Amino acid sequence: MSTTEQRVAIVTGAARGIGAATAVRLAAEGRAVAVLDLDEAACKDTVEKITAAGGKAVAVGCDVSDAEQVEAAVERVTSELGAPTVLVNNAGVLRDNLLFKMSEGDWDTVMNVHLRGAFLMSRACQKHMVDAGFGRIVNLSSSSALGNRGQANYSAAKAGLQGFTKTLAIELGKFGVTANAVAPGFIATDMTAATAERVGMGFEDFQAAAAAQIPVQRVGRPEDIANAIAFFTGDAAGFVSGQVMYVAGGPLS
Ligand SMILES: NC(=O)c1ccc[n+]([C@@H]2O[C@H](COP(=O)([O-])OP(=O)(O)OC[C@H]3O[C@@H](n4cnc5c(N)ncnc54)[C@H](O)[C@@H]3O)[C@@H](O)[C@H]2O)c1
Repeated sequence: MSTTEQRVAIVTGAARGIGAATAVRLAAEGRAVAVLDLDEAACKDTVEKITAAGGKAVAVGCDVSDAEQVEAAVERVTSELGAPTVLVNNAGVLRDNLLFKMSEGDWDTVMNVHLRGAFLMSRACQKHMVDAGFGRIVNLSSSSALGNRGQANYSAAKAGLQGFTKTLAIELGKFGVTANAVAPGFIATDMTAATAERVGMGFEDFQAAAAAQIPVQRVGRPEDIANAIAFFTGDAAGFVSGQVMYVAGGPLS
């Protein structure tokens, strides 16, 4: 591929939040972007933001945990935009509960979206990356990978994504493909707004309480994560692989 040819990126869960900010950012860097989410119509705002700024994007409806839908979505992206060589596995859900109240459904849903989804998307895209001799995979982990009360399912999935990332880096490195994980701390999105509601706090108070615990004294914004993802997906980051970058306003332990 010549360096002037436009690379194609797929960002999952890009209808809103971190995924939307990432899609906009990657488009601003010159990528053609597939804005993928459960509901194609919900991707419209992100696509319009990209095209209004002169970028190229398509909306793709797909449940990342469904193998047939994933195969069909990646084929559609390939025919409409070109072979995807950048993949951001960002789609995510929460089903928080203390272990004794966690249902099998809560467990399975979180595993299916985060782990099975990242596996299916990566498997479907890797052949295009290998053919191109270039690829960038970024998986969204979380500070919760280190353990978080009420999130046995989510923390297991997010820690699992770190092992998945390192293994992809080992298997795909020789084909010019890197795999890295970005692990956000508290980012103000619909996801954290829903958590505030669940614990009975106003979102402003919830963010203020979180910010007080963060060394830089503010919560994160979706663009903070998009910046880190832009680094890992860049052409210049070819020697950075198998890494987990915590983007949390301070160190975590
Ligand atoms: N917000 C935070 O504080 C935070 C912190 C750490 C990690 N993360 C991770 O970052 C990612 C994005 O989080 P966010 O805060 O923007 O969440 P969000 O809830 O605002 O957005 C998630 C998006 O994923 C989509 N999605 C869910 N299930 C899907 C599926 N099966 N197929 C396709 N799309 C699906 C949703 O429709 C939604 O548009 C998630 O993986 C999340 O776990 C978020």
